[in-house]
Amino acid sequence: MAKKTLNVGIIGVGGIAGVHFPGWRESPLTQMYAFADLDGATLKRVGEAQGVSVLYEDPMDLIADPNVDIVDVCTPNMYHCPLTVAALEAGKDVICEKPLAPTPEDIKKMIAARDKSGRLLMTAQHFRFSGGAKALKTEVEAGMLGDIYHARSWMLRRSGAPTRPGFIEKKHSGGGPCIDIGVHILDLTLWMMGNPKPVSVSGVTKDILAHKPGAFSNWGGPIPKSYDVEEFAAAFVRFETGATLVIEVSWLLNHNTPSEDMQMWLYGDKAGAHWPSNEVYSTNNKTKQHFNTKLQREEGGAPHAKECMAFAEAVVKKLPSPVPAEQSLDVIAILDGLYRSAASGKEVVLKY
Ligand SMILES: NC(=O)c1ccc[n+]([C@@H]2O[C@H](COP(=O)([O-])OP(=O)(O)OC[C@H]3O[C@@H](n4cnc5c(N)ncnc54)[C@H](O)[C@@H]3O)[C@@H](O)[C@H]2O)c1
Repeated sequence: MAKKTLNVGIIGVGGIAGVHFPGWRESPLTQMYAFADLDGATLKRVGEAQGVSVLYEDPMDLIADPNVDIVDVCTPNMYHCPLTVAALEAGKDVICEKPLAPTPEDIKKMIAARDKSGRLLMTAQHFRFSGGAKALKTEVEAGMLGDIYHARSWMLRRSGAPTRPGFIEKKHSGGGPCIDIGVHILDLTLWMMGNPKPVSVSGVTKDILAHKPGAFSNWGGPIPKSYDVEEFAAAFVRFETGATLVIEVSWLLNHNTPSEDMQMWLYGDKAGAHWPSNEVYSTNNKTKQHFNTKLQREEGGAPHAKECMAFAEAVVKKLPSPVPAEQSLDVIAILDGLYRSAASGKEVVLKY
């Protein structure tokens, strides 16, 4: 077997890092070389379990390690920007978990550091790498839906707030379900729509259920008193193409789902489509017939692993970033606009 050439250093070896490991192992181009985590016990346990012996309690030591080629940032959201900027400045290629950062200002700093360094930067938006989403994207790009002029998307959980500080305390997370799961469904929807430029947002946020006595989550037990982010948000977005989007996200909603309800509806002038069912809906005006078809899923594999492998391939072959930071900037600009609109009670024009 050819020698694997790229050494990967992973910062933050908690929950999500565990689903990146198989990708770095499976890629013919990479090997896991070093881990960093502020929590020494986690670092030691995960290092031993994964057979990685280069371990740093200070992430800056991993970034300074000349043997590290790729840095994989898997920390809570508020640390994505400083760590990514430092890694790019040290000449590393960086894949960073979603959200790339919780504010447009931070993402712009990351883009500037990327451009100055000439290295590759990718947001880990794994839903783009699932077999169903890839199949739908292929058909959308081939024109099956025509011009997509409206979309509806949601990612809704019933008693589904992750209760760790990294998610529910704004100082670590930068926001609630908008920033955690809103970025997933928004990234996927914008990607399917061809990444039109958003121009305005009208949104609301709510925090009602989290503060009721006995509030709990099936994703981590009682809702801690330190919960200081929204629990629900809804928004109407306009794009410069004239297209529009309605989006809803929640961790805590009296919604009819045992766990999570994630859906996207795309409405084009030739056909409509629904994800994740991958059904396509069209009408023949001559025969007055409606047609419902179902797309075949593309060959899959675990999407988190696939995103890591795609990043390594892009680094080696000098391809464009599989998920460019500019597209994550659009996502966060919409969510930032949503928050500002919720605070002001008015539609917000996006300038970024
Ligand atoms: N793509 C997905 O489906 C998905 C799912 C879950 C989480 N995430 C993202 O992954 C990131 C981490 O989430 P998680 O669930 O793994 O959280 P986690 O709390 O399980 O793990 C985070 C780890 O980072 C460490 N850490 C915190 N600050 C650090 C720092 N400054 N330097 C080094 N280590 C640090 C913590 O000690 C912990 O071990 C978040 O940005 C989250 O949005 C993505």
